[in-house]
Amino acid sequence: MSTKPNSPPAESWALDGREVDLLHYIYNRPDIKEIRGNPKKVLSAIDTYNIEFSFLMNIGATKGEFITNIIAERKPSVMIELGGYIGYSAILFGDAIRKNGGKQYLSIEKNPEMAAIADRLVELAGLRDYVRIIVGSSSEVLRELITETKEIEAVELIFIDHWQELYRPDLWLLEELDGLKPDKSVLLADNVIVPGTPDYLEWIQATTPEAKREILSRSNFGSLKPNPDLVYDSHVQEFDTHIGHVGLP
Ligand SMILES: C[S@@+](CC[C@H](N)C(=O)[O-])C[C@H]1O[C@@H](n2cnc3c(N)ncnc32)[C@H](O)[C@@H]1O
Repeated sequence: MSTKPNSPPAESWALDGREVDLLHYIYNRPDIKEIRGNPKKVLSAIDTYNIEFSFLMNIGATKGEFITNIIAERKPSVMIELGGYIGYSAILFGDAIRKNGGKQYLSIEKNPEMAAIADRLVELAGLRDYVRIIVGSSSEVLRELITETKEIEAVELIFIDHWQELYRPDLWLLEELDGLKPDKSVLLADNVIVPGTPDYLEWIQATTPEAKREILSRSNFGSLKPNPDLVYDSHVQEFDTHIGHVGLP
């Protein structure tokens, strides 16, 4: 007899039906015809829902612009995201990948309901050819992309935005799989100050292999094989995260 896994519990800030409600809100808008095929208008409709009805844990306009500028500067062919939620960042950054001559934005989302909503909104935005929503846990999908399908040889740009306790283990996994290359790979991680990811920050801010070995000597890394010889050039930036509209004042 098989058992049916439970859905993740609803929180006061997510997964309580608001994400499905968002779809109804967007598809019932009188301007749905103008929204179709227009990434900016899809994002703006999500922003309006966020401001007027229920909070959604999207990257938002300010940090979003910071990252789209990095995409414009580095022009990655493929960008990866860990934690897609309802597809806001996938639409914003997938559109930036398209505009900058890139091929694909791969958004990895563990919750299949959220992935289905993201898929619908990506389709609505007209970004089907550029954005792929992959349902699965970040570690399993990263392993598949790098070692099985070999779609990723080395990370160009990765946006880390899932649960904070997974930031460092997933970074260690990328190191183990030799998926990061100096001068090529850029990591962008959200929420490192609030709620905060002290273990991830400590690892990327350690400036010598010796300091990294010392961290490993007091850390539990299970079967992962972190690479203490990989030293990062890191920068932490604080943002005013008031909710605004993408591309609108
Ligand atoms: C902060 S939200 C992502 C927001 C999204 N990047 C945006 O800015 O629009 C975090 C998401 O990570 C997902 N998540 C949590 N653990 C995960 C894992 N191991 N692999 C993939 N996704 C995960 C959650 O289901 C949630 O939808």
